[in-house]
Amino acid sequence: MRATQPPAPPPSNPQLRPGKTLVLVGLMGAGKSCIGKRLAQHFALSFVDADQEIERAAGCTIADIFERHGEAHFRDGERRVIARLLEQPPHVLSTGGGAFMDARTRGKIRERAISIWLRADLELLLRRTARRANRPLLNNGDRRATLARLMEARYPVYAEADIVIDSNDAPPEVTVERVIEALERFLGPEREERPGKVREPAP
Ligand code: S3P
Repeated sequence: MRATQPPAPPPSNPQLRPGKTLVLVGLMGAGKSCIGKRLAQHFALSFVDADQEIERAAGCTIADIFERHGEAHFRDGERRVIARLLEQPPHVLSTGGGAFMDARTRGKIRERAISIWLRADLELLLRRTARRANRPLLNNGDRRATLARLMEARYPVYAEADIVIDSNDAPPEVTVERVIEALERFLGPEREERPGKVREPAP
C-alpha cells in the first residue's frame, strides 16, 4: 500500500491576496522594509526593496551614486528600476522616500499597484533614522530640520496613496495587522477595484 503524504500546508490564504503589487511609501525611518517583509510573509508574496535593486543595477551603494553622479542621476535610476519592478507579478515593494514624489512613478503605481503610506511623526523618524548613517540626504547638517522640511514637502503628496496607516512604536505585527485590515476595507467584500481610499484618522 502506498503511504499517504501529509498534505502540504496551504499557502497563507491565497484567495485573500490583493492580486496586485503592494507598494510601501513613506519617509526614511517610517518602517517600510520592516512592515513590507512581514506583509509579504503574510500573503506568501516575495518582498523587494527598490533601493537594493537600484544598488544592484548600479553596482554601488546609493551613497556612492549620490556622491559620484548627484541626486538627479539617482532619481533617474530609481524611476527606471521601479517601473521595471511594477511589470513583475504581484509582490510587496518597499520604495525609497523620494520615489513617490516622482509624478511618473506615482502614475505607474496608481495603475498597477496598491499604495500604502506609512505615516510617521517627526520624533519617531528622528529616533529611527539615528540608527543608520547610510542616507545621503540626512548626512549633512541638521537631521531634525531636514526631516521636518521633507515632511512638509512630501506628506501632501504621500497623502495620495490608496491607504494611509500610522506608523508608531507598536510592535510591527500590530502595524501589519492594521495594514491587512485596511487592505480588506480598500478592496471591499467583493474585492472590487478602488472603491475608495482608506486612511486612519490623523493622530
Ligand atoms: C531617500 C530615501 C532612501 C533612499 C535615498 C533617498 C529619500 O530610502 O532612497 O537615500 O529621498 O527620502 P529609504 O526611505 O528607504 O531610507
